[in-house]
Amino acid sequence: MSSSSAVLFRPFSLGTMTLPNRIVMAPMTRTMAPAGVPGPSNAAYYRRRAEGGVGLILSEGTVVGRPVSRNEADIPFFHGEPALAGWKGVVDAVHGAGGRMGPQLWHTGSTRGMSGWEPEGPVESPSGLVGPGEARGETMSEEAIADTVAAFAAAAADAKRLGFDTIEIHGAHGYLIDQFFWQGTNMRADRYNGATIKERSRFAAEVVAAIRAAVGPDYPVILRVSQWKQQDFSARLAPSPAEMTDWLLPLVEAGADILHCSQRRFWEPEFPEIDGEAGLNFAGWAKKLTGAATISVGSVGLSSDFFGAFGGENSQAGGIERLVERMERDEFDLIAVGRALISDPDWAHKIQSGDTADLRGFHAAALAELV
Ligand SMILES: Cc1cc2nc3c(=O)[nH]c(=O)nc-3n(C[C@H](O)[C@H](O)[C@H](O)COP(=O)(O)O)c2cc1C
Repeated sequence: MSSSSAVLFRPFSLGTMTLPNRIVMAPMTRTMAPAGVPGPSNAAYYRRRAEGGVGLILSEGTVVGRPVSRNEADIPFFHGEPALAGWKGVVDAVHGAGGRMGPQLWHTGSTRGMSGWEPEGPVESPSGLVGPGEARGETMSEEAIADTVAAFAAAAADAKRLGFDTIEIHGAHGYLIDQFFWQGTNMRADRYNGATIKERSRFAAEVVAAIRAAVGPDYPVILRVSQWKQQDFSARLAPSPAEMTDWLLPLVEAGADILHCSQRRFWEPEFPEIDGEAGLNFAGWAKKLTGAATISVGSVGLSSDFFGAFGGENSQAGGIERLVERMERDEFDLIAVGRALISDPDWAHKIQSGDTADLRGFHAAALAELV
């Protein structure tokens, strides 16, 4: 092992889950589950990342059981027997290669996909908006909210029953849960809204609490959050540490063990006005303010961030020195790697052996197939 990367290859334990190292495969939608059912090619794709030494694999977003909870055909379901049987095949394949895995449980709210695909029924969201002043779909009734909370809990219980090691709740990037957090999409007049981020966190807290009740006390629950939204890259739910505490602490108290703090570039400081340009990143602040374990993410091992990937932008392989420095300071507990693992399933092994000349970078063409 190259001594500089050793810090990434320390084990990590939380509740019933023990990971051999700190490298997490970031959740990445592939829209390659025909009829919403993952099959042998999806299982082989995840298995290859387990064989490549990834500590924890998070699946692509997979949607909970609501009439319309996805925004593209071929996004996998996480409800109904054919899909759950398909996921059993995936987790068994990953375990067969010695890996650990959790599904990312998702509801896309009122967002549109990129292909122009339209779902068969109306989309749902807190206030029938997809962005500030932009109407789309239906405002959720109290009953729809309660059913959605129950759908998340059912999906988590199914994940545990199928043998997954953890689950991640997708609370980021402008999808349903984030549409409750964000003032731009939450105009409700009931208890799911209010003047503060703490009040707008109520829906997410109910989802977390219902999941915690469904999976029991020791099963790790990860919650992914972001300041930015696909509708507005510069949006910030928490412009100060006090607001970040108001946002995230109730979610940790509701039962989230690990916060997955989504950033485009992990080395960017969250509040540079407080601790400078080399200050803590989002995951660093979230850990400090809540005491929860955190996952950081964003352009690890690559030369550019992921927004360009959808437009066909490639990214060169880069070093991991800045990552090692931050991990050595225990700024966060785990690091998620996205695109580098799409092009290079052996990324983790290459980092561990110091075989960095052989790293592949990211080629957008790799998104066209499951390799
Ligand atoms: C093709 C692709 C699909 C993605 N799908 C998801 C998703 O389903 N859920 C999610 O939370 N983030 C998703 N993301 C964001 C990644 O999880 C990750 O945060 C982002 O790519 C930054 O990491 P990277 O710079 O290492 O690629 C996706 C990113 C890419 C490139």
